[in-house]
Amino acid sequence: MPDWHAWHESYDDPGSLLSERLAVVRAHLSDALAGTAAGEVRLRSLCAGQGHDVLGVLPDHSRRDDVAAVLVEADSRNVSAACLRAHASGLSRVEVRQADAGLVASYADKLPVDVLLLCAPRLAAALPAEPLFTFLPS
Ligand SMILES: C[S@@+](CC[C@H](N)C(=O)[O-])C[C@H]1O[C@@H](n2cnc3c(N)ncnc32)[C@H](O)[C@@H]1O
Repeated sequence: MPDWHAWHESYDDPGSLLSERLAVVRAHLSDALAGTAAGEVRLRSLCAGQGHDVLGVLPDHSRRDDVAAVLVEADSRNVSAACLRAHASGLSRVEVRQADAGLVASYADKLPVDVLLLCAPRLAAALPAEPLFTFLPS
């Protein structure tokens, strides 16, 4: 089992492949949020890690106050890091859950969604340069 906390250290190097990938994911996420209908935007991220994608976009996004986000992450250290960052950014509508994203029950109370981010470990290993990004219009 990888150390999913240490995995995020590559984000400290702006030249890393992971940082390049993060920039692409953030750009897609920003565009998707901008393209949603007026009103609340239900954003969900499964296997969210430390939330570098969501928490890197929301603070300065025009839809910031419309977004109700739920991040589902298994590793308690990553959950703590995401909570701290969300709090520091004043993102009161970001919930970070320590739960198994493989179980629908972990987020069944937060369906349906408007914007869904998926980054599963095996997919990440198979497609290191390709964000798995899905935008589901309501
Ligand atoms: C490759 S990292 C991606 C993190 C984040 N989505 C990103 O792109 O920066 C995969 C993350 O999935 C988490 N994870 C692995 N299995 C999980 C599960 N069953 N439920 C929730 N999170 C899980 C790991 O702890 C890790 O933080």
